[in-house]
Amino acid sequence: MTDRARATMSILEVKNLGVQFSTPDGAVYAVNGLTFALDKGQTLGIVGESGSGKSQSVLAMMGLLARNGKASGQALYKGTNLLDMPADALNKIRGNRMAMIFQDPMTSLNPYLTVERQMTEVLQFHKGQDRATARAASVRMLDAVKIPEAARRVTMYPHEFSGGMRQRVMIAMALLCEPEVLIADEPTTALDVTVQAQILTLLRELQRDFGTAIVLITHDLGVVAGLCDQVMVLYGGRVMEQGNAQHIFHHASHPYTLGLLRAIPRMDRDADSLLAIPGAPPNMARLPKGCPFSERCAIVNSQCRDVMPVLEPLGDGSATLRACHKSVGTVQAMHAEGASA
Ligand SMILES: Nc1ncnc2c1ncn2[C@@H]1O[C@H](COP(=O)(O)OP(=O)(O)OP(=O)(O)O)[C@@H](O)[C@H]1O
Ligand code: SF4
Ligand SMILES: [Mg+2]
Repeated sequence: MTDRARATMSILEVKNLGVQFSTPDGAVYAVNGLTFALDKGQTLGIVGESGSGKSQSVLAMMGLLARNGKASGQALYKGTNLLDMPADALNKIRGNRMAMIFQDPMTSLNPYLTVERQMTEVLQFHKGQDRATARAASVRMLDAVKIPEAARRVTMYPHEFSGGMRQRVMIAMALLCEPEVLIADEPTTALDVTVQAQILTLLRELQRDFGTAIVLITHDLGVVAGLCDQVMVLYGGRVMEQGNAQHIFHHASHPYTLGLLRAIPRMDRDADSLLAIPGAPPNMARLPKGCPFSERCAIVNSQCRDVMPVLEPLGDGSATLRACHKSVGTVQAMHAEGASA
């Protein structure tokens, strides 16, 4: 590869990513055909209801699928496919160049070790630092995520921190080696609204300071609009709509995205106008033959039930890709009618 090609390359380029699980009931296709490119300092939001394939997509990239899972396609970190990388090479990238934070901090924090011990071990392993240097760097990072009295608190155990502070500790740990890619899987879901906002602001500041590329998983399109450049809306393991986050927030064109938008609490609407999408997410082992959303879509027809819509450019000059048989006009008219009903 030439230097020029390397310089213009995205940090993370995912092509046709798939995740398949073998189960006693047969194969479950949890993720199908995910494609995106993420540059330095950019944020991609992955949105969808529970079970839509958000976590499995990123776990596949990090080589962390359950034993019965298998990834296909490509997840290129600076041009090298993570999916066929030997375990020791992947271990060097994971937690170092690419790091992950989870909804529950205790997934990645060890309850039996002090925060200091856990943080310094990461730096000793990945950076070969001695204990004193690693300790100083750990305190600096706890400071950066706004943990008061970091020098004292670094000696504490995870359970001695409040939920919001523990989430900050986990972010500090993930950022210790200044990763180029940070994957955040619903990092604020378990926190109250004020702390959620603080953590999201913190992520934005850290991204500005370190130029980190972020993949943010959430089921809240409002969070995406505030924080992300690109968005990918998943349903039943497939992309329903994808493109510029602001554009899709203001000009959504897929019935599922519009359904998610109507479920967001907003200052300019009263609580009674909040509408959850009727029905439940699909059983992944028994997806409909056509559009995955067909069982819940208000404008479904027989073509939708029989034929899987292809993800393709909207062709309106925007960067939006969409998988739906109906025209944007029909979808938006349906939405306007539903909103005034
Ligand atoms: N080990 C497994 N074996 C079989 N199926 C699995 C396994 N792990 C996950 N799945 C399937 O993959 C689908 C996608 O799961 P995933 O964890 O990505 O959902 P998600 O979008 O992150 O949901 P949530 O918002 O609840 O975290 C699930 O519906 C589940 O059916
Ligand atoms: S393809 Fe049909 S069922 Fe699927 S979202 Fe579009 S209109 Fe609804
Ligand atoms: Mg998940």
